[in-house]
Amino acid sequence: MMFEFVIWLTLLLMTKPSDTKPLRSEIKNEIHFDSNITFEKRGLHEEAPLFYIEDRHPAEFFYSDPYYPSPLGGRIDHVWQKAYDKARKIVEKMSITEKVNLTTGTGWGSGPCIGNTGGVPRLGIPNLCLQDGPNGVRYTDYVTNFPSGLAAGTTFNKELIHQRGKAIGKEHKAKGVHMVLGPVVGPIGLKAAGGRNWESFGADPYLQGIAGAATVEGLQQQGVLSIVRHFIGNEQEHFRQVGEWDDNGWDKLDESISSNIGDRAMHEIYLWPFADVIRSGAGGIMCSYNQVNNTYACENSYLLNYLLKEELGFQGFVVSDWGAQHTGVYSSLSGLDMTMPGEIFDDWLTGKSYWGPLLTRAVYNGTIPQQRLNDMVTRIIAPWFAIETLKLPSEDNIPNFSSWTYHTYSQKFPYQHFGPIVEQNFHQNARSTFSEEVALNVAREAIVLLKNDGHNLPVDVGDGIKRILIAGVGAGPDSKGFDCKDQRCTDGVLTSGWGSAAVNNPYVITPYEAISERARSLGMVVDFSNENWNLDHVSELADYADLSIVVVNSDGGEGFIEVDNNYGDRNNFSLWHNGDNLIKHISERCRKTIVVVNAIGPVNMEKWIDNENVVGVIYMPPLGQFVGKALMEIIFGDVNPSGKLPFTIAKKKSHYVPIVDDLSKNNDPQDNFDRDIYIDYRFFDKHNIKPRFEFGFGLSYTKFELSNLNILEINSPTEYLPYPEDYLPIYRTIEDDVCDPEDALFPHEEFDPVPGFIYPYLYNEDVRSLPDEDDFDYPKGYNTYFKTTPPLSGGFGGNPALWEILFSVKAKVKNIGKYKGGYVGQLYIESPSTLVSSPAKVLRGFDKVFLEPGESKSIHFDILHRDLSIWDVESQQWIIQTGTYKVYIASSSRRVELCGEIDIGI
Ligand code: BGC
Ligand code: BGC
Repeated sequence: MMFEFVIWLTLLLMTKPSDTKPLRSEIKNEIHFDSNITFEKRGLHEEAPLFYIEDRHPAEFFYSDPYYPSPLGGRIDHVWQKAYDKARKIVEKMSITEKVNLTTGTGWGSGPCIGNTGGVPRLGIPNLCLQDGPNGVRYTDYVTNFPSGLAAGTTFNKELIHQRGKAIGKEHKAKGVHMVLGPVVGPIGLKAAGGRNWESFGADPYLQGIAGAATVEGLQQQGVLSIVRHFIGNEQEHFRQVGEWDDNGWDKLDESISSNIGDRAMHEIYLWPFADVIRSGAGGIMCSYNQVNNTYACENSYLLNYLLKEELGFQGFVVSDWGAQHTGVYSSLSGLDMTMPGEIFDDWLTGKSYWGPLLTRAVYNGTIPQQRLNDMVTRIIAPWFAIETLKLPSEDNIPNFSSWTYHTYSQKFPYQHFGPIVEQNFHQNARSTFSEEVALNVAREAIVLLKNDGHNLPVDVGDGIKRILIAGVGAGPDSKGFDCKDQRCTDGVLTSGWGSAAVNNPYVITPYEAISERARSLGMVVDFSNENWNLDHVSELADYADLSIVVVNSDGGEGFIEVDNNYGDRNNFSLWHNGDNLIKHISERCRKTIVVVNAIGPVNMEKWIDNENVVGVIYMPPLGQFVGKALMEIIFGDVNPSGKLPFTIAKKKSHYVPIVDDLSKNNDPQDNFDRDIYIDYRFFDKHNIKPRFEFGFGLSYTKFELSNLNILEINSPTEYLPYPEDYLPIYRTIEDDVCDPEDALFPHEEFDPVPGFIYPYLYNEDVRSLPDEDDFDYPKGYNTYFKTTPPLSGGFGGNPALWEILFSVKAKVKNIGKYKGGYVGQLYIESPSTLVSSPAKVLRGFDKVFLEPGESKSIHFDILHRDLSIWDVESQQWIIQTGTYKVYIASSSRRVELCGEIDIGI
């Protein structure tokens, strides 16, 4: 009720004729700026502090409003409208069991891929293959292990990120994959210790959005559909999924963790990158394991029906994370369109599903309207017609590998040990010069130089460096080899974090291999030690070395794998394997010690960062198979470092948001996101905390000079968004066709069931075993009246006017040093606090250029309507506040080079 009232109010507000009247704006270029970044102003519509009242269970404060019914697809954009029409022509030919087949996975291991839908052979539609993942093709051979998403974000190079998406897409295509489970734009990086932050692009929604969209475009251009994950609030691994936490007394877990997210943060932080990927045409979105505001993400009608399908105008389908579905009818009504891998979590191989036969039954007995099932299936099929580069898979376009065996021949269902021996792996080489070049380039550009005192880097024989030491377990191969399952081995160089995003390496170039080869070619003597505990020998070697390179690491990954007591999330920010001590011992003896930190996120550097013998510090996110080569090229100056930190490195653990890892108070853990919109650098700025290294920071071997800031108004800002166009009409409606339940019975005369395989057929003709429509306990707020005009939506990612360019910003950058190199111009905006207070700076643009010594180039940024908007919780809309906006061109979130002002008023 309340919610409808809000919508109605919003409608009223948004139709006021004066609302979209252009506002006057006045521009000042190159103003003097105050480097004090504390921010204490408070605005009029301040959101109440995050509902935190002691002694009361957060569930009382964090809940989601219901929103029904699930919006029908095909009502936005003429291209998609036509695609839906084509898809509906196919769907209308399907029987109910055929439709159900496309919505339900056939079961874990029941098919070649990580996820396989049922097929519709009668219409030539094969089982659809969904495969991890975001950094390359999981569980197969002859593929590239690409640099991680985090590495892609660290490059701050949009074109390269796009190329990476293309290369990853191309390899999936070559393996016969239909849909890629990537990219990852959630976790967003709220928690520095979060185990999966290395899969996504860095702790800022803008960076995630740009990188996510460029990746989706790259993937889909290669003919594979992109499923963006995880929607939403999966910011830590602990307790992500009930049934998964059996250790440390955690088996008391009653429900998956609830990520409690306030409305403003939901819009300005967590939804933000999803809006971008939807706008770039992503065909699928994966809902996450966790609950959001005390309802499971995959059955949260407000999230899926309202925010995603209505407000963000998402026209594709929603698929559950693997076992993230907790109910059958409710999840369907709430907007889930496909369940994976098909079974109930942890009931693998039982064939028990919330959908499959039960979905068929619920449609037959009228509990779920057929229109809902039709929309689920149409959403799965329509993207293949809407996106020019995609084509609905056919039976001659199927996977040529198996995720469940690496052997060439094996039983048809290797995971089940069932079926005849067949050819399973065709060992198709998916690699190409293109993917290797892209993988190497991303690795190169993702290396961040944090310290270079005395300019000992790049290494030059001319500087008297004749004998070097390469040290640390992270410099060489793991004694167990390279490809432990899901990359869970950490006693060697890290090519990735662990979990479903990990990819097998076709080979690895370790730091030791690449650096020693290069050093030898320069006539150097190369010592090596990978002993991290007994340090006598390495200390002695450090004595002889003119320069030491110490590679240290810190790893983490997905929650289903535990390594050294780290259950996905990291327990702390210390270096692994006695790293601090190793650095101490080496730097005590060697005056030129270079520390290379290879880690899935920030580490604590305080023990050695100010040590004067630690002359150089390099950070590398997981870089894939070329890690050693890329590092070598930076160390020897073939490549000038141009990576920028995609997160803040703090001095103290207490500056980061802790992982909720304790069930002593509560068996249904509540994770209140009380940093609100102040994640990462926004928090450090707000409280004026000096980080060790700030977001966006990274040194170069050369120097850059900035000048000529020029802000230009392209379109006048308006306080409110114009009312969007009405939804388009639906050309074709599919008639209900429930006839005789006998039609949906298992066709035993045609084939024998495979054990554990999920079929769509009814167990028996009695469809009443689920109460029928009249006495079914429908969720609160359930109704079947489709909304005709969405108040805020109307386009992909939201109201189309959000993407209108209001201002364009240019500046000149000149390379005034001796080396050629890349410069990342970063645009930050400080908003006025007329209605609400805002962070001191938010990233709203980046542009990377490469310059020869002495060369100048222009960097360019577009400021869109959304870039200046705040989400107003009270009126439920995006608003451009009147007042003064500061525009900073910066080399990091704390190094402002140029500053301008836009004054927006009536
Ligand atoms: C798999 C993941 C899966 C998880 C569920 C793991 O063994 O590799 O892909 O989602 O189990 O817990
Ligand atoms: C992960 C997903 C992944 C799925 C399939 C889950 O455990 O959370 O990201 O796509 O497994 O492997």
